[in-house]
Amino acid sequence: MRIAIFGLGYVGTVSTACFAEAGHEVVGVDVNPLKVDLLNSGTSPVVEEGVAEMIREAVALGAVHATSDGPAAVAMTEASLVCVGTPSRENGSLDTEAIHRTMESIGSGLRMRAGYHVVILRSTSLPGTIEGVREILELRSGKKAGEDFGLCVNPEFLREGSAVEDFNHPPFTIIGESDRAAGDVAAELYQEIEAPLYRIPLGAAEMVKYASNAFHALKAAFANEIGEICAAQGTDGRVVMDLLTRDTKLNISRAYLRPGFAFGGSCLPKDLRAITYRANRLDLRTPLLSSILPANEAHLDRGIQQVLKHEGKRIGLLGLAFKGGTDDLRESPMMCLAETLIGKGRQLRIFDENVRLSRLIGANKAYLEEKIPHISSLLVDTLEDAVEFGEVLVVGSAAPPLARLPDLIGIDRQRLVIDLAGAFPPDAFVAVHAAVTT
Ligand SMILES: NC(=O)c1ccc[n+]([C@@H]2O[C@H](COP(=O)([O-])OP(=O)(O)OC[C@H]3O[C@@H](n4cnc5c(N)ncnc54)[C@H](O)[C@@H]3O)[C@@H](O)[C@H]2O)c1
Repeated sequence: MRIAIFGLGYVGTVSTACFAEAGHEVVGVDVNPLKVDLLNSGTSPVVEEGVAEMIREAVALGAVHATSDGPAAVAMTEASLVCVGTPSRENGSLDTEAIHRTMESIGSGLRMRAGYHVVILRSTSLPGTIEGVREILELRSGKKAGEDFGLCVNPEFLREGSAVEDFNHPPFTIIGESDRAAGDVAAELYQEIEAPLYRIPLGAAEMVKYASNAFHALKAAFANEIGEICAAQGTDGRVVMDLLTRDTKLNISRAYLRPGFAFGGSCLPKDLRAITYRANRLDLRTPLLSSILPANEAHLDRGIQQVLKHEGKRIGLLGLAFKGGTDDLRESPMMCLAETLIGKGRQLRIFDENVRLSRLIGANKAYLEEKIPHISSLLVDTLEDAVEFGEVLVVGSAAPPLARLPDLIGIDRQRLVIDLAGAFPPDAFVAVHAAVTT
């Protein structure tokens, strides 16, 4: 394929070298004439393992050349990959100026180009940036995205220092696409790369990059705080963290990484309180660990507000224990939600397969009957009872018995379902939502 790469920095130059090596013909574009001259002379504008030789060879073979004429580069290629910088402004916001200037130039090129062309945004950009890009391109070209030209978001996951290796062996390839034809062109570029390729909506592709980088930063800060607490107690944090990473069931895994309702239970809140208390006693500042419980409370509060903003007086709560599959009510966020709703004058019926008075035994039965008798009197024995009662249904757990809910409600029954647990696909209750909220 003939492709244009806008921005000859780290990402753009490594991409130029790697795509040329994979057999593509690359036109590098940069506003900096020095970088253009360097590339045309066969010299890499950046220092990165292996790239100097790859660029030298590709330029000698005629597979790569550079220009500062963006529109001309678009006119002679099938796809433009935008790798320009997106630095922070002083206030922390993202500076998308270079993306916008580049898109103006690409838009002018699209106007001149007769054939189909796909614009692929590789620069790290916040969700919504691509919609601004769409506007600029359509305005400048007089053409329509998704019809006359394609639009993709294809975030880059390489790390400087191991960029070529990362480019050729990424964890995955993410392609956000305006339409199927656009995604097909972007996917073709990566057909030699052995990594899973996911084609998703444009906005989700932009967000995957931010979620990934935030997670990497979170991991590093977490390891450092644990390391500090270990060091202050005479333990080696590297040994602790090394073992932590060996648990691939709960620690380095998908566990706990699915957005849903607040966490609770008898262990996580208690143990977080204990370790942050210990850190304070050791005169250590651990802002990350100390922020976890407040973050969880904020999430619980968002859930409460989400329910309260609806008028419905009669609420069916589905799930009461801190998670499905247990009858443990200690520090359950659903208990907190129930108590707040009662305090705000809402009427409740609560169904939890494992927290039914008829089945409860021992400590949990005593806890319910003695400590929270007002809640125990609201428990119902069947999902049907809770659904029948509630004008609003709140899903607090992903417990298997709740899987019947969409069928049980049916599309003709007016029920607003608030799925705090994220147990159902986003469109499971759309008809029901619409019926109530309009
Ligand atoms: N550096 C990394 O390791 C890395 C990894 C993944 C993603 N990213 C992201 O990729 C993007 C590029 O990062 P980088 O480190 O390669 O940036 P960089 O600053 O090294 O390079 C950006 C290049 O874009 C050029 N440029 C600016 N405006 C232009 C325009 N209008 N037309 C053409 N060229 C223009 C600049 O002259 C410069 O050469 C950023 O969004 C960054 O967040 C970077």
